[in-house]
Amino acid sequence: MQHLVVLTGAGISAESGIKTFRDQDGLWENYDVMEVASYDGWLRNQDLVLQFYNDRRHQLKSAQPNAGHKGLVELEKYFNVSVITQNVDDLHERAGSKNILHLHGELTKARSTKNPAYITDIRYNDINTGDLCPEGAQLRPHIVWFGEEVPAISEAISIIQKADLFVIIGTSLNVYPAAGLIDYASIGIQIFLIDPNPVQSPYNRKIEFIKEKAGKGVEILTNLLRKRLNLDL
Ligand code: OAD
Repeated sequence: MQHLVVLTGAGISAESGIKTFRDQDGLWENYDVMEVASYDGWLRNQDLVLQFYNDRRHQLKSAQPNAGHKGLVELEKYFNVSVITQNVDDLHERAGSKNILHLHGELTKARSTKNPAYITDIRYNDINTGDLCPEGAQLRPHIVWFGEEVPAISEAISIIQKADLFVIIGTSLNVYPAAGLIDYASIGIQIFLIDPNPVQSPYNRKIEFIKEKAGKGVEILTNLLRKRLNLDL
C-alpha cells in the first residue's frame, strides 16, 4: 500500500464547531495568544491559562468528529495513512484514525511542570491550581506553547520523508516548525491542499488545491485518488 501522509490544522475541526485560530472571529481574535498560550503567560497568570484550556476541554467534550475526520479513516482502505496534526483535540482518535501524531500536544492530557516525562490522561476534566503530579509539582496542560520546543517534530519529519502522497488540510501554515514540514516531502510526489480559503504557500512546490471545506474536500480527494490510481480495480 502507498503511504499517504496528512497534515491537519484547526480547519479540519471547524465543521465540528471548534473555532480556528486565525479566521474571522477565531480564538486569537478573542484572546491574547501570549497571555494564554506562552510560558511567560503561564508564569504571569496560571489561573487564566488553566481556565482557557479548561474551556477548550469542555467544548471538546460535546464536539463530534465530522465528515473530514471520518473521510481520512475511509482512506485507510486504500492507503497506509499517517495523520500528523497540529490540533490538540481528540477528534481524529474518536473518528478512528490508526496512526496519529500530535505536534502541539493534547487537551485530554496534563503534564508535570517539574518532570516533562510525567504525562497523565485527564479526559475532559479540569486542571486547577493545586492539582499536583506525584512529585508534588503543579500540573499544566500538555500543550506546546509559543516559544517552546516541538518534541514530535523529528518523528513528523521522518514520517513525511516516507510519504508517497501528501495532503494538507485546514491550516494557514503560519506556525513553524509545522509549516516547514512540506519541505521534507520527496520531490515529485503529489501534494494536495484542502481549504475553503486561499493559503499563502511560500514553497516552490506544485500543489493541487481543493478549495472546499474539509468534509467535502476529503470526499473529492478520495474520489479523485480512486479514479487516478485505479483503486477500485
Ligand atoms: P489557523 O486558524 O491558523 O488556520 C485555519 C485554516 O483552516 C485556515 O487556512 C482556514 O481557511 C481553514 N479553514 C477554515 N474552515 C475550514 C473548514 N471547514 N475546512 C477546512 N479548512 C478550513 O489554524 P492552524 O493553521 O491549525 O498552536 O494553526 C496552527 C497553530 O496555531 C495551532 O496548532 C495553534 C495556533 O496557535 C498552538 O496553540 C500551539
